[in-house]
Amino acid sequence: MQETTDGLQEKTESPAQDNALGERKKESYRIFDDIAGTYDPLNRFLSMGIDVYWRHRMKKELPKKEGLKLLDLATGTADVPLILIKNPHVTKIRGLDMSKNMIAIGREKIKERNLQEKITLDIGDGCNLPEKDNSWDVTTVSFGIRNFPDCFKGLQEMYRVLKPGGQIMVMEFSLPSNFLIKAIYLFYFRKVLPFIGNLFSGHGDAYSYLNQTVEDFPYGRQFLDLMDKANFKKTRAIPLTFGIATLYIGEK
Ligand SMILES: C[S@@+](CC[C@H](N)C(=O)[O-])C[C@H]1O[C@@H](n2cnc3c(N)ncnc32)[C@H](O)[C@@H]1O
Repeated sequence: MQETTDGLQEKTESPAQDNALGERKKESYRIFDDIAGTYDPLNRFLSMGIDVYWRHRMKKELPKKEGLKLLDLATGTADVPLILIKNPHVTKIRGLDMSKNMIAIGREKIKERNLQEKITLDIGDGCNLPEKDNSWDVTTVSFGIRNFPDCFKGLQEMYRVLKPGGQIMVMEFSLPSNFLIKAIYLFYFRKVLPFIGNLFSGHGDAYSYLNQTVEDFPYGRQFLDLMDKANFKKTRAIPLTFGIATLYIGEK
């Protein structure tokens, strides 16, 4: 683990682990197909509800412009669209995900709230977006980009489909900088979360996989560097809840 000049941390990774995990990421959506039915309740329980607060933070950071059209990648069961649509500036949200079962649950939630006119969900790969260049005001991805087989390609795609001046928002897990909090967090992530998650989702190792993707993923300065490399300007990171998660923001 290395400390960077601005206090954000980065880490080095094992190439052998990268390859095995990289292979698995190519079809990670299949894991989400398997656990879709228990995803929402387990998410709320395992995050102790904090994820709802994080999504509201995303809503607060949206640009203050009228008529925003927003594209949410790896939208899952539509938790991000259902919160961001409450921002009065947002008029339309399209969510894309590779998991048909996650999307099916998301569509039900949208229908229950009678928001079908404003939020639509479709199958779509975050690394190969079925969208025109320069077509969206905001692109978002929450707890999804670390599952992409090529996260840099995902960032480049988000850049391509954003209008000039548009805003990217990426929310992802990160590691806290405080030694004690990090130790507690890693214990929870390595032991408690996989045990409860695998047990209640009925999936052999879905939550062990999730834990590996978190520890393996670049965060802080390292992730901002990727955003800069993908051409985003004014990039910044907002650590959430002791740095357990981070919201990254940039502009095209
Ligand atoms: C942890 S869930 C996050 C869902 C949602 N964004 C949230 O905040 O609850 C990760 C999602 O990424 C999706 N996913 C994985 N690989 C993908 C890809 N290449 N393109 C689009 N979605 C993908 C999975 O199907 C899953 O729904």
